Amino acid sequence: MKIVVGTREEIAKKAAARYEKLLNERPNAVLGFATGSTPLDLYGELINLNKAGRLSFAEVTSFNLDEYVGLDGTHDQSYRYFMNENLFNHVDIRKECTFVPSGLDVSDEKAAQYDEAIKAAGGIDVQLLGIGNNGHIGFNEPNTPFGSITHVVELTQNTREVNSRFFASIDEVPTHAVTMGIKTVMNAKSIILVALGKAKAPIIRETVLGEVTPKVPASVLQLHPEVEIYLDYEAASLL
Ligand code: F6R
Repeated sequence: MKIVVGTREEIAKKAAARYEKLLNERPNAVLGFATGSTPLDLYGELINLNKAGRLSFAEVTSFNLDEYVGLDGTHDQSYRYFMNENLFNHVDIRKECTFVPSGLDVSDEKAAQYDEAIKAAGGIDVQLLGIGNNGHIGFNEPNTPFGSITHVVELTQNTREVNSRFFASIDEVPTHAVTMGIKTVMNAKSIILVALGKAKAPIIRETVLGEVTPKVPASVLQLHPEVEIYLDYEAASLL
């Protein structure tokens, strides 16, 4: 694991530079994206680099980690909407080559087809991850089997409470989501995990220094050969 520590601004710039290098070497890269608060600065940097002509998404294919069940892409809390608003609408990516799991008409069988689509695209070159306070990656909550592929999950009360900040009330937070599995994430050729803020410090410590266990889903990353972890000083404060 390579760990990069800096201010929020510095790590967003450093992670963006990683994408600049990748996309200049491999313009048709397959990128795995995440939603949530954490990647916003990085997406802002990617938009700036794209506008400055320093990187292009014109040949990129992308796959997002997850989506809420029951929200279609026009719902302002759906992850498809988030990606359009915070990245895709502002860069030269072909929308038809951007994939987010469907939150409608879901089944484990349909979800598993997402893994097939990723394989057919050649596999993910760089998967971006945030991390939940309980160690979840994507919506793989504690005790998700390491062998899991894309599947439907019931969200924990903790995750629904944390995410209720984006909804009018907790009752509006969906109870289920479709998420890439842990194996789907681990199949990526390389992984970038970003964590910001003091609240993430304990779980970052467990992820990096603790036992590799399904109780802490992100701890599986210790077993991946190409992982970079970008932390602000607060998130790194217990390492
Ligand atoms: C989002 C996702 C989640 C978030 C995590 C952290 O696509 O898969 O695992 O990365 O919940 O969320 P934030 O960044 O809002 O702290």
